[in-house]
This record gives sequence, C-alpha cells and structure tokens, in this order.
Amino acid sequence: MTEGANTDFAFKILLLGDSSVGKTCFLKRYTDNTFQDAYLSTIGFDFKFKFVTLDNGKTVKVQLWDTAGQERFRTIAKSYYKGAHGIILIYDVTNRKTYDNIKKWLNQIRDEASNRISIILVANKIDCEDTRQVTKEEGEALAKASNLPIFEASAKDSINVNESFQFLIEKINENVSNIITQNVTKLNNNKKQNR
Ligand code: GTP
Repeated sequence: MTEGANTDFAFKILLLGDSSVGKTCFLKRYTDNTFQDAYLSTIGFDFKFKFVTLDNGKTVKVQLWDTAGQERFRTIAKSYYKGAHGIILIYDVTNRKTYDNIKKWLNQIRDEASNRISIILVANKIDCEDTRQVTKEEGEALAKASNLPIFEASAKDSINVNESFQFLIEKINENVSNIITQNVTKLNNNKKQNR
C-alpha cells in the first residue's frame, strides 16, 4: 500500500457519455496502459481503484466508475451520481451526435449530481483525423458555453489521458480541501458561540 494514503476515503469519478465514445478504453489506458480495438459494450457498470500522487506530494485513492452509455442503462446510471466528486464527460470527434448529446448529459448531471461536482469534457479519438466530424474549435466553443475545461484526447494513441485525469483529481482535491476548511471554520465559530 502507498504510504500516507487515506484508504478509507476515495474520490469518486464517473466516466459518462454516449455509447462507444471510448469510455472503457479511456479508463483502461489510464489504469492499465492498454488499448483494445474490439468493441465490447459495457453492461451496467464497472469500477476500478487507483492511488494517485498529487502535485503537492499527497497520495489519494480514486474510485473510477465506467458506466454504460446505452440508453437502456441510463436510468440505472442515475444512482451512480450519488457521492460522486468528479465527472469525465466524453464525446467522440468522429461522431457528431455524441457531441450534440453533451448538452443532454449536462442537463442530467445538473439534475442528479451535487452542484459542487467537478466536470471536464474530453473530445476523444483525435487520432482519427480523416473521419473527424467535430472540429477543435467547436469543442472549445462548447466548453466555453458550458464553462468547463476541455481536453482533446486519444485513448488509442495515449494523448492527454493522464493529463485529463490528473487535472480533474487536482480540482477535486482543491474542492474537498475547501469544504473541509469551511466545515472546520463553521465548527470553530459554533464552538465560540456556545461558550
Ligand atoms: P459503452 O460501453 O457502450 O458505453 O462504450 P464506451 O464508451 O465504453 O466505448 P469503448 O471504450 O468500448 O470504445 C468503443 C470503440 O471505440 C472501440 O472499438 C474502441 O476500440 C474505439 N476507441 C476508443 N477510444 C478510441 C480512440 O481514442 N481512438 C480510436 N481510433 N478508437 C477508439
């Protein structure tokens, strides 16, 4: 076990997006550094743990949830939002429909998740330049309109996979630290008032 890690607490991260955008591949590239061309649709969900070292040297435990993008699993997916700290919302640059559906996913996230949740957008499969349907500029416009960071990535060629996860995990750590500080301040203020 990694020294200094708090094993009881894990940052919960969900991978969301339409079916076949590459959620499973994106996760496998990050956790096992592998990639497979064959498409095996995720049934329900799957999750993995990973210990991650932050820029400040602290080690955190991360629980990574790979959810099925297929419509028939969407309702089950709703319960996954419970307790989630971060979301990687993925579309496929070679399939415009998956880009158009990002707004639907954001609506569902706003309805189901905590309003403190950290979200990043990932435009996956940028290795397929020949079949690209969504430009980098369109991705950036969507990111700007949604007020979210975006990473152009490829699970296949291992582009921006680690960077996306690291960025999100650092962001979650900032949020969690802020909440702890706020709670400690509230607790101290309550103690003072009760004296
Ligand atoms: P569901 O489980 O149905 O929600 O799909 P998913 O989003 O988990 O997609 P998955 O990771 O199974 O990938 C779908 C297909 O896209 C597979 O054939 C992958 O090999 C392919 N794929 C995933 N990422 C990339 C990528 O970065 N580049 C290319 N060229 N293909 C990719």
